[in-house]
Amino acid sequence: MEAWRLAQVFPRTLRLHKPACGGHLVSRILFSGKTVLPERSKRSLCHFSTGPSVRESTALVYRSHGDPSQVVQLETLRLPDMESKSVHVKMLAAPINPSDINMIQGKGNASARTYAILPDLPAVGGNEGVGQVLEVGSQVQTVKVGDWVIPRDAGVGTWRTAAVFSEDDLVTVPSDISILSAATIGVNPCTAFRMLSDFESLMPGDTVIQNAANSGVGQAVIQIAAAKGVHTINVVRDRPDLQQLTDKLRAMGATYVVCPRPKLALNGVGGKSATELLRHLQTGGTMVTYGGMAKQPVTVPVSALIFKDVKIRGFWVTQWKRDNKQYDGVLRFMLDELCTLIRAGKLTAPYCSEVEIKDFHKALDNAMKPFISSKQILVM
Ligand SMILES: NC(=O)c1ccc[n+]([C@@H]2O[C@H](COP(=O)([O-])OP(=O)(O)OC[C@H]3O[C@@H](n4cnc5c(N)ncnc54)[C@H](OP(=O)(O)O)[C@@H]3O)[C@@H](O)[C@H]2O)c1
Repeated sequence: MEAWRLAQVFPRTLRLHKPACGGHLVSRILFSGKTVLPERSKRSLCHFSTGPSVRESTALVYRSHGDPSQVVQLETLRLPDMESKSVHVKMLAAPINPSDINMIQGKGNASARTYAILPDLPAVGGNEGVGQVLEVGSQVQTVKVGDWVIPRDAGVGTWRTAAVFSEDDLVTVPSDISILSAATIGVNPCTAFRMLSDFESLMPGDTVIQNAANSGVGQAVIQIAAAKGVHTINVVRDRPDLQQLTDKLRAMGATYVVCPRPKLALNGVGGKSATELLRHLQTGGTMVTYGGMAKQPVTVPVSALIFKDVKIRGFWVTQWKRDNKQYDGVLRFMLDELCTLIRAGKLTAPYCSEVEIKDFHKALDNAMKPFISSKQILVM
C-alpha cells in the first residue's frame, strides 16, 4: 500500500483577565455565543455583575482568514448582557479539531473553501467543548446552574474562558464523565456512532474498514464497534513508531483476527487511501466519506461500481444534528448511549494533550503537524 500500512492483521486473502472598567476596555468587542456581533462593540462596555458571573472572557479570536498561527490571537472580550433565554457558561475545555483549522484558514470563495460553514469575522475559534453553567436567564428551562453543557451546533466559538449562549444552542451532558470525554463527545464519537448505525445494518461478527484510524473519529469507531462485537480493520499512515501506535489501537479494541470482508468503509482521508478502502469492501458494501485530510478527491474505480455495486455515501454530523433538531430525543439518546459506554470504560476520550489557553500557539502548531496522534485540548 505504498506509504500506507495496515495497522492490523488482515485476512490473508485480503488483505478567558479581568481589568477594572476604564481605558483597558478600548479594544474589546462583544461576542455572543453563536454569532459574532461587531456592531455591539459600539455599546457601552462597562458593566458590573451582581451575580456570580465574570463579565469578561479571554478568547482565541481571528479577524481574518489565514494561517492559524498568524491570525489567531488571545483577546479579552466583554460578554453580552444576559437576556431571558441566555445561559452564562464558564468553559472548561475545548479541543482543536481539523474543522476548526479549516474554518480559520477559510480559503477565499465559496467553491474553494475548506469547510462548509464559515462564521462572520471577527470570530472566536472552536466548534466543540464543555462548559459549566454559571447563571441562567429567567425563562431558561432545559439547563440549570451547575450543569455541564456542550454546543448543539457548530460555529459557537468555544475557545474562550466564558460565553453567553442561547439556551437553544446547548445540550447537557452528565458531569460524572471526565472533562476530556465531555469536551470531545459532541463531534467525533457522535460521527462514529452515526456512521456505524445509519448506513449498513451491522451485526456482531461483521467488519468495518477505516483509514485515519488513529484520528479522534477513528478511535471512537474502534471502540464503539468493539462494544457491538463488530471487527475493525484499521489503516494508518506509516511512521517510525508504527508498532507503538498499532499496540495502542489494539488495546482499544482494534480487531486482531482474520475478519470477513468489510461491509462498511469509513473514509476520513480521500485520495489513494479511499480507493484502497474500496478495494477491500464486500460486494454491495458502502463507503462513507466524512473527512478529507489528504485534500485529494475520492476516485472510485469503475469496476467497483459495476462489478461490486458499492454504495458511495457522505456524512456530516453537523447536518445530522440540524436535520434532527426537532427530534430532541434522538440526540439525547445518542449522547446517553455514548455516556453509558464511557462510564463502562468502553469509550475513552481520544489520546489528548492538555494545553493552557495562553499556550495556544503551541497547540495550534501541534494540531497541524502529522503523526502527532494526540488531540490538542485547550483547558481554561
Ligand atoms: N463529517 C463529519 O461529520 C465529521 C465529524 C468529525 C470529523 N470529521 C473530519 O474527519 C477528519 C478527522 O477528524 P478528527 O477530529 O478525528 O482528526 P484528528 O483526531 O485531528 O486526527 C487527524 C487524522 O488525520 C490524519 N491525517 C492528517 N493529515 C493527513 C494526510 N495528509 N493524509 C492522510 N491522513 C492524514 C492523521 O494521521 P497521522 O497521525 O498519520 O498524521 C490523523 O489520523 C477531519 O477531516 C475532520 O474534518 C468529519
